[in-house]
Amino acid sequence: MAVVSHWLTRYVVAAILVMIAFFSRHALMHIIGGELTPFITFFPIVMVVALVLGLGPGIFASAIAAMMSAYYIFPPVGQLRYGETSYIYNIIVFIGMSMLMCLFAWLYERIRLRVSHLEAEHAADKVRRENLEGLVNDRTAELEEKNRKLVEEIAERERTEAEKRKVEAQLAQTQRIEALDRFAGGIAHDLNNILYPIIIDLEGLLEDEPKGTARSDILDQILKAAYRQRDLVKKILSFSRRSEQVLEPVHFRVLLEDAINFLRSSLPRTIEIQLHINTQSDVVMGDPVQIQQIIINLCQNAADAYASQKGTIEIRLANTHIQPLYAYQGMRAGDYLKLTVKDTGTGMKPEVMARVFEPFFTTKGIGKGTGMGLSIVHGIVKGHGGAVTVESEEGKGSLFTVYLPVWHESEYQRQVYHGESAPQVKGSEKILLVDDEEFIISSLKRTLASSGYRVVALTDGHEALKEFRDHPDEFDLVIADLTMPGMTGIELARKILEIRSDIPFILSTGYNNIISRQEAESFGIRELLLKPTGAQELRNAVRSALETRY
Ligand SMILES: Nc1ncnc2c1ncn2[C@@H]1O[C@H](COP(=O)(O)OP(=O)(O)OP(=O)(O)O)[C@@H](O)[C@H]1O
Ligand SMILES: [Mg+2]
Repeated sequence: MAVVSHWLTRYVVAAILVMIAFFSRHALMHIIGGELTPFITFFPIVMVVALVLGLGPGIFASAIAAMMSAYYIFPPVGQLRYGETSYIYNIIVFIGMSMLMCLFAWLYERIRLRVSHLEAEHAADKVRRENLEGLVNDRTAELEEKNRKLVEEIAERERTEAEKRKVEAQLAQTQRIEALDRFAGGIAHDLNNILYPIIIDLEGLLEDEPKGTARSDILDQILKAAYRQRDLVKKILSFSRRSEQVLEPVHFRVLLEDAINFLRSSLPRTIEIQLHINTQSDVVMGDPVQIQQIIINLCQNAADAYASQKGTIEIRLANTHIQPLYAYQGMRAGDYLKLTVKDTGTGMKPEVMARVFEPFFTTKGIGKGTGMGLSIVHGIVKGHGGAVTVESEEGKGSLFTVYLPVWHESEYQRQVYHGESAPQVKGSEKILLVDDEEFIISSLKRTLASSGYRVVALTDGHEALKEFRDHPDEFDLVIADLTMPGMTGIELARKILEIRSDIPFILSTGYNNIISRQEAESFGIRELLLKPTGAQELRNAVRSALETRY
């Protein structure tokens, strides 16, 4: 341990310490006699110097000590007698021992240095290890955070994928339904055109036939079959959204409660209906009959899902707002009423769920279900500018959600004039009748003529316009078909109303070129006649159009 740093100082200090030892020894000799070993004070000093000041100063100190004791102990040079060699021997022993002590001190110093070096290294290692541990901890935390983010990202991606699959399935379903919709609409169009004259003529024949005859019974049977056919076509039309709708502002809540009362009495007693209403505004622009049909069809299905077991149908009505981003199935963003019908019945397999809105799709036995229930719901809801969705799991139950746009008063501008008194069904006025289908023309003409009207029947719009232009004041009413080649009923109406704005005009329409009452009224058209009408309906419409004054 080189406590004193400069080498020269160390040697000087060593020399001074040896001097002190020398004088101490001298003093001791006077006190305790000269028989003591001559190096008694030198040994500890050499030891201390070697240990404290280093190997060099140690050797140096032992050399001076040897010299001084030799000088002090030896008789003066020249007085040393032959044989007095024990002094020399003592000094050699002293030097040898001093050297050993120095060596021992040196070794001790080396070991001490080595130990402290190892300790320092150990401490540095410890610090490094601690730093490393900190680093590892930081890195682990960082990795864990990254891992968590990755898991979240994967979950998010899976959610997006699932959402995408759902939207794609919905799109495919919508496309399939729309294709069926066009197909059904087309069939219904042809069926109605065939049914129209059949019903009118049968009614005419039946009116002329005395009651109770076998002939009148047969005619009655055929007419009933035709009516059934008409009802079926109506169902198809409800699905394809081409049926005539009477849209008016209605309180959904009232319709819902009415429908539930009806269902409570008609469904089996084992089915409990729970109703939860939580709405601020429940007015929708809708057809009350159709809206109740939605509720009844959904609840009937939910009840069927319990297959004569006990069960609960949970119905909820609430307001919701659809954001542009979430607007699906052609819904616009805005305020909606949200009706949910939930059951915990059989539920559906995914392949069944994908087809539920298709017309004639049913899993119920023959005679138990027509498969039209949900397709009608779909058609009605779409016709009201809404959407319907389904969620279901086999064995767990199903949830149907219907969205209908909430009606705000500012949107309502329509004003409909209703006749003051019930119209008379007979008359003698002159009617211009236009339809491109010959057999329809002849049936209508016969029916109207039998009620006393004078009818000019034509199959072409241009011809009809010419006829009217030539004799504008002769006619009291015009009945025209909407779809005609050459000139449509609307074009004809516009031109005829230009000639005479007060002439009552009835537009007869099929469902696949639906025009709303509002639209028709905006053209000045008084009545819309939806084919196939019965004879009585036709007569009523004619009288109503003739007697309504604006
Ligand atoms: N709540 C429901 N739970 C389980 N399956 C349902 C549910 N609603 C509808 N379905 C399934 O969807 C099919 C079609 O339903 P939809 O109402 O269109 O016709 P239907 O009930 O079979 O016949 P209909 O309504 O004419 O009596 C049903 O046959 C049934 O398989
Ligand atoms: Mg059903």
